[in-house]
Amino acid sequence: MIKRILDHIRTLPDFDFEGKRAFVRVDFNCPMDRREVADNTRIASTIPTIRYILDHGGRVIIASHLGRPEGYEEEFSIKPVARELGRLLSEEVRVLPFDLGGEDPGSWKDSENRVLMTENLRFYSGETRGDEDLAAFLSETADIYINDAFGASHRKHLSVYALPGYFTEKGIGFLVEKELKAFCKVLKDPEKPYTVIMGGSKVSDKIKVLEHLLPVADQFLIGGAMAYTLLKAKGCDVGASRVEKDRLDTARRILEEAEHLKKDFILPVDHCLVKTVDRPGEKIYSRQIETGYMGVDIGPETVRLFSAFIRKAKTIVWNGPMGIFEIPDYAVGTNRVAEEVSRSGAYTVVGGGDSVRALRALGVGDEVGHMSTGGGASLKLLEGNGLPGINILLESP
Ligand code: 3PG
Repeated sequence: MIKRILDHIRTLPDFDFEGKRAFVRVDFNCPMDRREVADNTRIASTIPTIRYILDHGGRVIIASHLGRPEGYEEEFSIKPVARELGRLLSEEVRVLPFDLGGEDPGSWKDSENRVLMTENLRFYSGETRGDEDLAAFLSETADIYINDAFGASHRKHLSVYALPGYFTEKGIGFLVEKELKAFCKVLKDPEKPYTVIMGGSKVSDKIKVLEHLLPVADQFLIGGAMAYTLLKAKGCDVGASRVEKDRLDTARRILEEAEHLKKDFILPVDHCLVKTVDRPGEKIYSRQIETGYMGVDIGPETVRLFSAFIRKAKTIVWNGPMGIFEIPDYAVGTNRVAEEVSRSGAYTVVGGGDSVRALRALGVGDEVGHMSTGGGASLKLLEGNGLPGINILLESP
């Protein structure tokens, strides 16, 4: 699927932007702090696309969601994001009025402003629910539709899913192209040995990814709370660790499949344990999990075990932290894995906010093959089904 998309989808050099306006859907759903952009990675990642269109005589209307507001909520206004975009682009960015009543989309298209930006798309109920009037209005603001919103392309929301159908000229920006190429490499053309590192809280979020990658990859290193559901399914005593009881059968099925395919499916052999999460000072490391204790991070023996595989790997996919990474005392395992991954020399694709954050915090992000800008979207791609917002660009007329 992903290979077919890359072979057939239109990319920026396929368009003539001269004298035209492009509607560029981006994912500027950035972490915010007191209504200022706290991490501008997602904005900076789309600058090459916007710059290319402007440098080729085009103008743009940029559109993004921010957070999950229910209708108009001032604190979710796109204005601080627009300011940061203007700073990075060294261009004036004009934010359009939220109230579309009485607005003429044609005048937006013809406006002299090179960079326009819509208000937060989720201020409009039609964005998540689908609304032909909103789609028709937005389609009249531009000549060409470009999707550079990798992180939002797993959603069937109006601006990524229905809106492209209103344009004859449509394609993807450089960020989406880069993301698709990276995932294509690990899904279709991985160099062996191929190691998958999975973490995070729920096995249920990762089942389809594991099922899809089991036949493809060689080793699976599992950490985070999801490991306890798998350990429990194996019959291990996991004390008070978080377990998804309704997923134990699925976990057993995955373990059996891994055994059947003769894959190394490595679960933690020791743990950082606490009685309550809010008392990190009382943490202990142990192989056994006594009654009343819960696992919150992988232990040093597990780090050594994982490191041996990571050092030999030629391809690595990493999604999800090894413990409760937000609490520094429980971030040791995730940070050690991040160090090993960055030193490994393997072609690495990292998805999911926490794993990316761990690498950035160590200042080693640049040494990694590809740090995805999409958490949910990267998981969807690893499940092997492609992304609705990208697939539609091939399907619609
Ligand atoms: C993200 O941050 O993962 C994307 O912007 C999607 O946001 P959503 O989960 O609110 O749809």
